[in-house]
Amino acid sequence: MTQTITIDPVTRLEGHGKITIQLNAKGEVEDAHFHVTQVRGFERFTEGRPFYEMPSITARICGICPVSHLLASAKACEAIMSVRIPHTAAQLRRMLNLAQMIQSHALSFFHLSSPDLLLGMESDPAQRHIFGVAAARPELGRAGIGLRRFGQHVIELLGTKRIHTGWVIPGGVTEPLSAGKRDQILAMLPEAYANVSLALAAYKQIADRFQQEISVFANFPSNYMGLINEDETIEFSDGALRLIGPKGDIIEDGITAQHFTEVIGEAVENYSYTKFVYYKPLGYPDGSYRVGPLARLNIVKTMGTPKADQELAEFKQLAAGPVESSFFYHHARLVEALYGIEKIEHILADPQILDKHVRATAGVNRLEGAGQIEAPRGTLSHHYKVDENGLITWANLVVATGHNNNAMNKGVLQAAKCYVKDGKFTEGALNRVEAVIRTFDPCLSCSTHAFGQMPLAMTLVSADGEVVDRVIR
Ligand code: NI
Ligand code: MG
Repeated sequence: MTQTITIDPVTRLEGHGKITIQLNAKGEVEDAHFHVTQVRGFERFTEGRPFYEMPSITARICGICPVSHLLASAKACEAIMSVRIPHTAAQLRRMLNLAQMIQSHALSFFHLSSPDLLLGMESDPAQRHIFGVAAARPELGRAGIGLRRFGQHVIELLGTKRIHTGWVIPGGVTEPLSAGKRDQILAMLPEAYANVSLALAAYKQIADRFQQEISVFANFPSNYMGLINEDETIEFSDGALRLIGPKGDIIEDGITAQHFTEVIGEAVENYSYTKFVYYKPLGYPDGSYRVGPLARLNIVKTMGTPKADQELAEFKQLAAGPVESSFFYHHARLVEALYGIEKIEHILADPQILDKHVRATAGVNRLEGAGQIEAPRGTLSHHYKVDENGLITWANLVVATGHNNNAMNKGVLQAAKCYVKDGKFTEGALNRVEAVIRTFDPCLSCSTHAFGQMPLAMTLVSADGEVVDRVIR
């Protein structure tokens, strides 16, 4: 008799997914999968819309990463318009992107994963949530909420709305920054620094207790991809992509948004609505790679800001080459949050930051355009084709969760093999399998847009719960 363990839903992540673990007759783990079970379909239903509406439409994909879609979309539109945006607009957008990265990283670390890290993988599931953390470690609960609020507040000050701001448009932004708002953001910085320092200290104190998790949480050699500047510093909004191999060797460098669409492919597996993204020259699945905080820190030589550079040096001590365990996404996330605060401070000191010229205008000058940025979870690409009237005829979004899909699945299998033995498992064991997925912090709402070639499964269940029929298209 074979047996399947199903974890449905996987908790404390964005969106709807489940994990299945297949056991053989001896009770050993044969295979395991992470299934994204929701479908969103934005790629199809934006067809026919004017291209300049795309930033505000695609931002509606997600309440966690709307800024990422706004920015990648605006860049794709600017490729269609064939314009370069003013310096000040680029700086203001960069700040918006960093603010979102900080709030999203705070959400992932504190709200979603700190219950496992601070209370323990085996702790009472009824208390294993952010309120449990706030009760056990009030100073950390406050720091988490404070750090997320900082990011959200910066987004609100810049874009006048916390979620789904219309401030970012093709060509730049609608409004310049006022001196009053700049000073408000500056005044929030000391508390933000204090909160992220507290988080880093708390993480470093407990990380040693998770040696077994570190050894099986998607701990394997892989390729990594992320944006990087020509001076080797980390980048979230511009620059070009670099893909490195398992030993840190550069596989391809200088991948622009246009080039991205030529070298990056999307594969489909019949158990998930999220595609499996890979580097075409290496094929699928060999061309799979990881993106996001761990990948970015593995790629860059320097953050380009002093405090984060100190932290990066410490992070790089974890391994001789790239840091391989996905457990260290948590660590990398906190280093990036610190960088984000420093970089915002740096941008606010730009003498042109209050400049009134923040928008370029143009119509359709090209019938195709692509844009790419680093979302909190990793690389995000928007690629559009339009007709002469600027109406969308085709759209493709490639999201961070798709890039990480192969590694997430391999990681779930690796952890399941460690924690499920002889067909026996505890609640804490299954929580660890879920926690592998949480290290990647996937955003499932953002990741499921394909129609047509995706499998659609229907299950007919009788009143007593028995599966009567199952149809897969
Ligand atoms: Ni999202
Ligand atoms: Mg797609």
